[in-house]
Amino acid sequence: MNGNFDRSIERKGTDSVKHDLLTPVFGSEDVLPMWVADMDFEAPHCVQEAILRRAEHPVYGYTFRPERFYRAVSGWIGRRHGWNVDPGTIGFSPGIVPALNMCVMAFTQPGDRIVIQPPVYFPFFSAVSNHLRTIVHNQLVEHDGIYEMDFDHLEESFRDGVKMFILCHPHNPVGRAWRREELERLAGLCTRYGVMVISDEIHSDLVLNGNTHIPLASLGKEIADLTITCVSPSKTFNLAGLHTSVVIISRPDLKKEYDRILDMVHVGGGNIFGMVALEAAYTGGDAWLEQLIGYLEGNDRALREHLRATVPQLVISPLEATYLAWLDLSFLGMDDRALRQFVIGKARLGLNDGPMFGPGGTQHQRMNIATPRNVLMEGARRLSDAIRSAG
Ligand SMILES: Cc1ncc(COP(=O)(O)O)c(C=O)c1O
Repeated sequence: MNGNFDRSIERKGTDSVKHDLLTPVFGSEDVLPMWVADMDFEAPHCVQEAILRRAEHPVYGYTFRPERFYRAVSGWIGRRHGWNVDPGTIGFSPGIVPALNMCVMAFTQPGDRIVIQPPVYFPFFSAVSNHLRTIVHNQLVEHDGIYEMDFDHLEESFRDGVKMFILCHPHNPVGRAWRREELERLAGLCTRYGVMVISDEIHSDLVLNGNTHIPLASLGKEIADLTITCVSPSKTFNLAGLHTSVVIISRPDLKKEYDRILDMVHVGGGNIFGMVALEAAYTGGDAWLEQLIGYLEGNDRALREHLRATVPQLVISPLEATYLAWLDLSFLGMDDRALRQFVIGKARLGLNDGPMFGPGGTQHQRMNIATPRNVLMEGARRLSDAIRSAG
């Protein structure tokens, strides 16, 4: 166990997107970076040690992924989520966004209709539109900051002809960990209308506050045969820069088609350090992850308590999963442009602007809380002070 999450680590000067691109993105260096979904925490020691061990061997030539790699993935998913995954169904991807794009290329044709549920992680839109497929929105329905799927509208879209559905599970940015009843209802619709599902489960290990993650494909063979599950250690252990992720495809014909696309663009080789990091994390990272989850829950509580006491009009969606707080700032009565200027110029915060998540994102901001508590509270104070002085 080694999670010292209170330790501040200087990340400026490491070519960090989150810390070193403030002026290009926010037009100012004077903002506290609480945007991009990576954490300001060091990776677990078992991962650092595995990378250092491999780096000590001075030849970094081509490598392949050994059986151990796939067993590590299936062992992790079995332990953490109770889903028994055959290592032979696991494929590689250099990231989840590349996997979404490759699945769209492999399993749909130009013009096909693909459903996504905004407000949602913005590369979902481009994964569809990049390949000239048609986006169909099934906007989440919100009441008092709690988001749900609109099943009636979803069924209508399926009835009109839909080839694929991209599920964000858990859902970034609204923090939902979809429950069994919701997943069963979704699976029922997908099987009835023969709609294939890409289930992006990149945040599945980061489930907080007593919630659980149920892999969609674990619900039964019928839905498993329609589902491509995307999994990665990159959010869980803060390894996004290593570009090593996996997809789980239980139908051999679909797996073959996915692998064909991966080979076609020749990105299946992977990265030596990503490989050893995944193995180390998925075999020895459990205790560290438990500590991380406790720390994130503490951060979530501290942020909520501060904002409730200082700006009670601000609604924060319950954080069932992810480390991304979804803030409803509509009570300020500003349009999106003014709100963005207010957050950058007055609160001096670098957050993700709600509209980038599509319909439903307006007048919201996304705040990354995976940072030492003193940094989080500095961000919380900047926001509440700016709101109170505006008001
Ligand atoms: C839902 C979701 N999918 C995918 C990604 C990014 O995946 P990758 O960096 O592996 O492409 C993120 C990052 O925030 C995410 O939130």
